[in-house]
Amino acid sequence: MNAFNLKNGTLYAENVALSSIAATYATPCYVYSKAALVHAFEQFQAGLTGTNHLICFAVKANPSLAILHLFASMGAGFDIVSGGELARVLAAGGDPNKVVFSGVGKSHDEMRAALKAGILCFNIESESELHRLNQVAAEMDKIAPVSLRVNPNVDAKTHPYISTGLKNNKFGVAFESAVQLYEQAAAMPNIAVHGVDCHIGSQITELSPFLDALDRVLSLVDHLESKGIHIAHIDVGGGIGITYSDEMPPAFKAYAEAIMQKLAGRDVKVMFEPGRALVGNAGVMLTKVEYLKMGNLDDADKPKNFAIVDAAMNDLMRPALYDAYHEIVAVQPREGKTQTYEIVGPVCESGDFLGHDRALALEEGDLLAVKSAGAYGMSMASNYNTRPRAAEIMVDGDQHYVIRAREKVEDLFALEIVPEPR
Ligand code: LLP
Repeated sequence: MNAFNLKNGTLYAENVALSSIAATYATPCYVYSKAALVHAFEQFQAGLTGTNHLICFAVKANPSLAILHLFASMGAGFDIVSGGELARVLAAGGDPNKVVFSGVGKSHDEMRAALKAGILCFNIESESELHRLNQVAAEMDKIAPVSLRVNPNVDAKTHPYISTGLKNNKFGVAFESAVQLYEQAAAMPNIAVHGVDCHIGSQITELSPFLDALDRVLSLVDHLESKGIHIAHIDVGGGIGITYSDEMPPAFKAYAEAIMQKLAGRDVKVMFEPGRALVGNAGVMLTKVEYLKMGNLDDADKPKNFAIVDAAMNDLMRPALYDAYHEIVAVQPREGKTQTYEIVGPVCESGDFLGHDRALALEEGDLLAVKSAGAYGMSMASNYNTRPRAAEIMVDGDQHYVIRAREKVEDLFALEIVPEPR
């Protein structure tokens, strides 16, 4: 579903013109379509009808309370990676009993908070973590439910920074040591083995890496059963990609069917941890052209034209960090000759760009929409250059409302202390 469409020469989010969003809330801002969020979640569910499953939205992709609340109301669970994300899920009304806790560095405090809340499962990523959790649970007189996150050593064929299932990544326990670690876990007094977990990377656009990983996981499950260790759930992680430009990721239905086919005949609950696929194309970042700075045509090198916009790498970090492509379109496209622009922000770094070589017909003051910004956009935003983080707006049909107010500059240094002279 595409919730962002041109109508009468203006880009709309559902039934609201993005120009009126900019006029009401100013720029830069993130704009989400509620219908697109609901549609994505429903599509994911549709592929799983009649199966014993749980969809745990990966909070890191977009931790907005409003979005967590929406998914929770549709029955979602959540994949968290910090105590902060747990607090968000609880504040948004999420069910702790549908929360899985991933991540390689869980602290004592985070373990305590998760045990107190009564989460569904800890995805354990190392032997030391397993021992720590057993001890923390013992101190609290609790039994901690666990899966081991195994590293199947398959190549997800994605950007190296977001590939997590290879041997040399920091994530998960090596496949070769998994059985021995499960045996240890099964013998620990304050640990209960529930499942097995695997996440091989993000923005994966082919089915085969998922299926290869699942084959390896299933062979492990069989081995464990033969040793009397029962695995009640298999968590296949997240990672399905989205279309940023011309990628053709598998449809949810094809993905779900392929996974369920491999699990046929097994009495096991299957869990998913999708992030990007549920929110990525449900959001855009809206920004305004502040200045056009045209290249000198006499320059011997190819002259560069710059469209300097009011959003920057601190608002949307993906282009600077991964050289990621986001489509950038004019909210009110102009007739006439296009020029090729570098779309850059005001931050003082040459890496501060949102797009290279974009053909657009622009004037100063024009609005641009940076598309596919619903995942890992606001969640990775920072205050670099003391820039307040953008507002977030939800559109629902012809309604629109703030789900996160724009930060105020004073808030950015409110916790700072200038020492008194000694
Ligand atoms: N589960 C675990 C354990 C994860 O580490 C991740 C993402 C997910 C689920 C969700 O993956 P997804 O379905 O969103 O692909 N900042 C990067 C993406 C980092 C992903 C990290 N882990 C980006 O902007 O592309």
